[in-house]
Amino acid sequence: MNNAITLALTGASGAPYALRLLQCLVQADYRVYLLASSAARVVLKTEQQQEWPGSPKDLSAYLCRHYGAKDGQIVACGKEEWFSPVASGSAAPKQMVVCPCSMGTVSAIANGTSDNLLERAADVVIKERGQLILVPRETPFSAIHLENMLKLARLGVTIMPAAPGFYHEPKSIEDLVDFMVARILDHLGVEHALTSRWGYGHH
Ligand SMILES: Cc1cc2nc3c(=O)[nH]c(=O)nc-3n(C[C@H](O)[C@H](O)[C@H](O)COP(=O)(O)O)c2cc1C
Repeated sequence: MNNAITLALTGASGAPYALRLLQCLVQADYRVYLLASSAARVVLKTEQQQEWPGSPKDLSAYLCRHYGAKDGQIVACGKEEWFSPVASGSAAPKQMVVCPCSMGTVSAIANGTSDNLLERAADVVIKERGQLILVPRETPFSAIHLENMLKLARLGVTIMPAAPGFYHEPKSIEDLVDFMVARILDHLGVEHALTSRWGYGHH
């Protein structure tokens, strides 16, 4: 198995991005520590009609089965699982993506709240100077949102809003989703074949 990555889902619209990203990370043979907020589960049900098992153990097994992952390749973690590897700089993966990222979680991360494992995991990646990517989704952004994101960007956090382009002439929602997921994977340095790159085979 390749390196580990932490993937956190929060309650912003955009569950399809997260599911596709998870699938690609599994296919690229990464171990994925998976965190999902309560609101993320509501969004998942609303947007994808998916209801995930409540317990981390059951969720891990369910996702491993669903995505054809190896045993232990997807590790779902509970909200207060403080002994999870992602809770400590000594064990946490150096890369973390919050996708989709709600404005509530943007605020919590910008302020170092660390009130649940998801917020703590992001705090750890920042303090350890790892790679943290946020995929925020809201419109319009208020000055509060923008200030929080600016603060994080200045700390080296990558702000990648869920804003797919249309220059690759998407034909389906899947094309739009893959556009975003390809950009996230590019930033993580994960190989993929989702979209052709700018300047290669375009126009
Ligand atoms: C269907 C649905 C869609 C939502 N979409 C967004 C959104 O796009 N952006 C956002 O910031 N919050 C959105 N929210 C609100 C957040 O889920 C809410 O603020 C929640 O407290 C965020 O908690 P979390 O960051 O712990 O997931 C949405 C909520 C629901 C139920």
